[in-house]
Amino acid sequence: MCGIVGYIGYKKASPILIQGLTRLEYRGYDSAGIAVMEQNKIEVKKDKGRVNNLYKLDGVEELKGTIGIAHTRWATHGKPSKENSHPHLDNDEQFAVVHNGIIENYNELKDDLIKEGYHFISQTDTEVVPNLINYYYKQDKQEDSLKLLRAVKNTCMKLKGSFALEIISSKEPENMIVVRKDSPLVIGKGHGENYIASDIPAILSYTKDFYFLNDYEFAYLSRDEVRFYDMELNEIKKSTKSIEWDSQGAEKGEFEHFMLKEIYEQPRAIRETIGTRLSNLKVSFDELNFTKEYLENINRIYIVACGTAMHAGIVSKNLFEKLCKIPVEVDIASEFRYRNPLIDEKTLTIYISQSGETADTIAALKLAKEKGAKTLAITNVIGSSITREADYSIYTHAGPEIAVASTKAYTSQVTILALIAIYCAEILERADMNKIEALKADLLKLPTKVDEILKDTTQIKKFAKKVYKEKDMFFLGRGVDYAVSLEGSLKLKEISYIHSEGYASGELKHGPIALIDTGVTVIATITDKELVEKSISNIQEVITRGAKILVITNQNIENKGFETIIKIPQISTEISPVLSIVPLQILAYYISKEKGLDVDKPRNLAKSVTVE
Ligand code: F6R
Repeated sequence: MCGIVGYIGYKKASPILIQGLTRLEYRGYDSAGIAVMEQNKIEVKKDKGRVNNLYKLDGVEELKGTIGIAHTRWATHGKPSKENSHPHLDNDEQFAVVHNGIIENYNELKDDLIKEGYHFISQTDTEVVPNLINYYYKQDKQEDSLKLLRAVKNTCMKLKGSFALEIISSKEPENMIVVRKDSPLVIGKGHGENYIASDIPAILSYTKDFYFLNDYEFAYLSRDEVRFYDMELNEIKKSTKSIEWDSQGAEKGEFEHFMLKEIYEQPRAIRETIGTRLSNLKVSFDELNFTKEYLENINRIYIVACGTAMHAGIVSKNLFEKLCKIPVEVDIASEFRYRNPLIDEKTLTIYISQSGETADTIAALKLAKEKGAKTLAITNVIGSSITREADYSIYTHAGPEIAVASTKAYTSQVTILALIAIYCAEILERADMNKIEALKADLLKLPTKVDEILKDTTQIKKFAKKVYKEKDMFFLGRGVDYAVSLEGSLKLKEISYIHSEGYASGELKHGPIALIDTGVTVIATITDKELVEKSISNIQEVITRGAKILVITNQNIENKGFETIIKIPQISTEISPVLSIVPLQILAYYISKEKGLDVDKPRNLAKSVTVE
């Protein structure tokens, strides 16, 4: 979950490192630090607090070195403090390490090192790494060009858990080593310089050519060259992939926050996600080669993901079942992986992950693969870890999502899932063709309709001003409107810290209605015309108990005591969450802003959850 950056070249490293960290702050923001090679000696500057604090630390300005590593932390082991901040040094201050991930066996390794005479100054799991490198380096009596790499490799063989590591050493002041296992890391290739980062946007303004490492692959970097090695330290060849994202996508531009910018980018994100997959009203996926025979044999589809991505999965369940007539289960990845799900080679499993790095989602995928199921990953990040594990990978084209609260990734995910459901349905020929044609036509209208909602947000802003001081809110809906309520509620709680619950309207009176009292805010979404009457009856039940109601709807509903009705455009019900979520995203945004909170970096959260 932490962010890491590295630079090796001819320019002063510290500004590049700090700027890169600033772009990665969505990964963690409780402490930050850099280590720079200064005349063959490692200089470390670090402290708790945000990345900006680094500029104020004594001696940072004076650093002249052109090779360095950097880290922004999301604390796991040890509270945020200077000692626990990265980079960490070994006892002889010859090896500096930054780490993203968790070393699960660090206690054991620490005990072994203490027996060898090493001491520790932090409570982190990471500090064992530079000391183990030191240990193996000293043990190795062979003096050749691979000595440091061997020490790093021997260290990695001892580590259990996940890691992306950057290492510099005064023993080899002109080089850097990086390696990963189950944690993200990319290498950006420049001319006479190379960049490293845990996420592409951090270094996108310097290069568009990236190397991607697989687990236990080592990159040995100099200014002009990157050499790659496997676990046995055999040299391997890798080529770069060119990334289309434009560096502006990772900048806020004229927007006050990334979240607002990303909400407004949704029409473009949806349009580009549909791309050419629906040209001439035919759905095609070059990435998939599903035959009718294969699809007919599928016994079940599992859609597995976390958080917002899982909510996108819930929206698509109905559509898959309706169009393909295959039973679909949507699972939380962290539950799926430990519940021994019924999977065999006739099961299709779909994983949704914006980052492509979520530890639980990747672990769930690996589990299903072991059991013989086909695995299909939907992600936004080219070359992300999940794409290296899945049988098939399909990209959303939302562009970099920087705000911790996911917005454009969600609407792109719902869109792509609808397209995949239609793609399968067309091969299976089990669905009503008129329904399919109507859906296809509506999918193409989504960008314009989202634009329409975004053109006038005054009503939502006004409502946000009325309710931002509240302590609890409820989001209600039936069918897909229930699915969108879950997501609306998550958006609100994560950036406004207001407690909220997304509930199926019909379920409220089985318990939670006890919480409805005078003045409690209830937000109801109604887009399914078959369920309007029933939804309104449920709303009346809470109005009677004093609730204040905001209704988001595309139906012509008479105002029967609601505080506000927000009308959104008509669209096929199955994909209506792409539209109905937009006012809910905007509501969460303005409530957070009214409260003066850090919208883009809410407390305790990090953008990409690379630990279990
Ligand atoms: C909420 C949010 C998270 C993510 C979840 C999965 O706004 O962003 O709930 O959706 O952590 O992340 P990915 O999609 O990267 O696997």
